[in-house]
Parts: sequence; C-alpha cells; structure tokens
Amino acid sequence: MKKKIVLSGARPTGDIHLGNYFGALHNWVQLQDQYDCHFFIADWHALTTGYAETEQLQAHTISLMADFLACGLDPEKSILFQQSKVMEHAELFLLFAMTTPLPWLERCPTYKDQLNQLKEKDISTYGFLGYPCLQAADILIYKADFVPVGEDQLPHLELTREIARRFNYLYREVFPEPQPLLTASKVLPGTDGRKMSKSYGNTISFADTPDAVRQKVQNMITDPARIRKSDPGHPEVCSVFAFHKVFSAEDVPEIESSCRKGEIGCVQCKKRLQEKLLAFHQPIYEKRTQLLSKPAVLRELIEEGSGRARIEAAVTLDEARSAMKISG
Ligand code: TRP
Ligand code: SF4
Repeated sequence: MKKKIVLSGARPTGDIHLGNYFGALHNWVQLQDQYDCHFFIADWHALTTGYAETEQLQAHTISLMADFLACGLDPEKSILFQQSKVMEHAELFLLFAMTTPLPWLERCPTYKDQLNQLKEKDISTYGFLGYPCLQAADILIYKADFVPVGEDQLPHLELTREIARRFNYLYREVFPEPQPLLTASKVLPGTDGRKMSKSYGNTISFADTPDAVRQKVQNMITDPARIRKSDPGHPEVCSVFAFHKVFSAEDVPEIESSCRKGEIGCVQCKKRLQEKLLAFHQPIYEKRTQLLSKPAVLRELIEEGSGRARIEAAVTLDEARSAMKISG
C-alpha cells in the first residue's frame, strides 16, 4: 500500500536547540518509516521576517542540513531539500496569491501577533502578509496528507485547507486537504526555567561543545528555596528536574523523593544530569561537527534531495496549471 505523505519545514535561523529538537525534529525522525516524508529548509520563509539580514542565510542552511542529518533524518528514507531550490513552490504560491482573499490573510492570528511583537523589524511587507499562502504551496505541491506542526501553526494549516478547497471549487479537484499531525512532544524548558528560546539566551544547542553543555547545566536555575543540601526541595519548580524527566526517566521517582527529603544536593543532582544529557548530546554533536567539516557533501545532499522534490512538485504544478487553463 502507498504510504501517506508527510511534509514539514524548518527555517534556517541558526542552530537547532534542544527545544526545537523535542518540539519537532525528534518526532520527524520517528515518522520516517511509517510515512513518505518530505522535510525542508524553509529559506524563503526565513526571508518573511529576516529579509534585511541575510548574511548568515547560506551558512544556516548548511548547518540546518547538518542538524537534520545528525539528529537522524535519513536521505535514504525521506526527501530532505531546500525550499528555494524547488522553484515550483514559488509558482504555486503565485497561483494561490490570485485566489486567496486578502481578509483570510489579515485575519490570521500569527499575522497580528508578530506585527506587534517584532517591533524592531519592519515586517509590514507584502511577503510577510502572504506567508501562509507560500506555506500552503509548500504543503499542497506534494499533496501532503499530514503536516507535523506545533499548535501555533494550526491556523496556517486551516488556511491551507481553505486555499485547497477554494481551488478545487473554482477549477477542479486537484488538492487533498492536509491534516495536522499533533504528536505528543516532550517539553523541555530553557536553562532558566522559561521557554527555551534563543532570544532568552537559555538554550542548549547541538553546536555547543560538551564542555559548554556541562557549564550550562552547572549554571541552571534550581529551586531557589534550597540553600543547604538538607533543605527540602520542590522539584516541580526546578529546571534540572524538568531535564531529568526527559533524560533520566527511570531515575525520576528516586530523584524526586530524595530532593523533597533533602537527601540529594543540587550539585550532585546536576552532575547526574550532565552525564545523562551528554550521553544523548555528544554523539549528535560529534556527527554534526563531522558533517560540517565537509560542507561540499552537505551541499550535494541538499542538491540531490531538492532534485527529487522537484520531480514530484512539477507533476502537481502541471495539474494546477491545466486546471486553471494556463497551459495547453
Ligand atoms: N512556518 C514554519 C515555521 O515558521 C515553517 C514552514 C514553512 C512549514 N512551510 C511549512 C511547516 C509547511 C510545515 C509545513 O517554522
Ligand atoms: Fe532541582 Fe535536583 Fe536541586 Fe532538587 S536536588 S532542586 S531536582 S537540582
């Protein structure tokens, strides 16, 4: 039986951190056997908010490919590609731009939110408003059945379905309506307990050296009520404990009770986390470092994957064109 099609993308905005990994990449890796997966580097999307500073875009594209591979995405199983190397996305985006009513885009909750939040950038652009339309093209050009996304992306996926429906209604049935794939993801806070985010400076990334990781664990915020080891702790407010839940699942009950009883000190608790975290981090770090030492190989892999994507994309684009009576 033909496998169902999955598609998702990530912007090349810098190094993948553990929050990105557990929020998305970790799930993508697991989808690879069951689905016909397409994962891409969304460099055009990065322009929607970052058009004014593109110096790092190429380097970030290459390093995102290294992150993809080091984390376990496999070009033998999935199509891994770069958006801007598949021009067909742009043409389908143009066709959707013709059919998408402006209010649909203006109504999109992320549009208003980001306009308010990203005050330091001027994103009152045509491209930023139209970005869900580009995303619809990314998804529909592969006739994806499922899109693994976070909750924040659900309105965009709803818009994608509306764009598909409108096209099918205006011309003929070309596009299936993709569904979100909301996989249970593990939540990892940042090293200070807030959401892990580059703008908070509380991330641990796969570009961090093992020493840097050790240092970051050492500096993590624990229960502020604990001064001496014998003080009873409150693991629920401690980010070290939140990390243990992800990396030391089998030890969690024991850590929890010895913290509450004041039997384990934070220094020792962090030492244990360092070991567990590094057992996970170091192999990925080393793989990534090794991949990045051969950028030509990474570029070649991107080229190959994009070539495979282009073949599929061209078929759908032809269908869309002929449905619209563009081609003969
Ligand atoms: N919008 C996503 C982000 O900003 C990236 C993205 C672009 C995407 N096109 C997509 C995700 C299509 C899923 C499907 O991170
Ligand atoms: Fe956190 Fe561990 Fe210290 Fe408890 S003992 S407060 S879980 S670091």
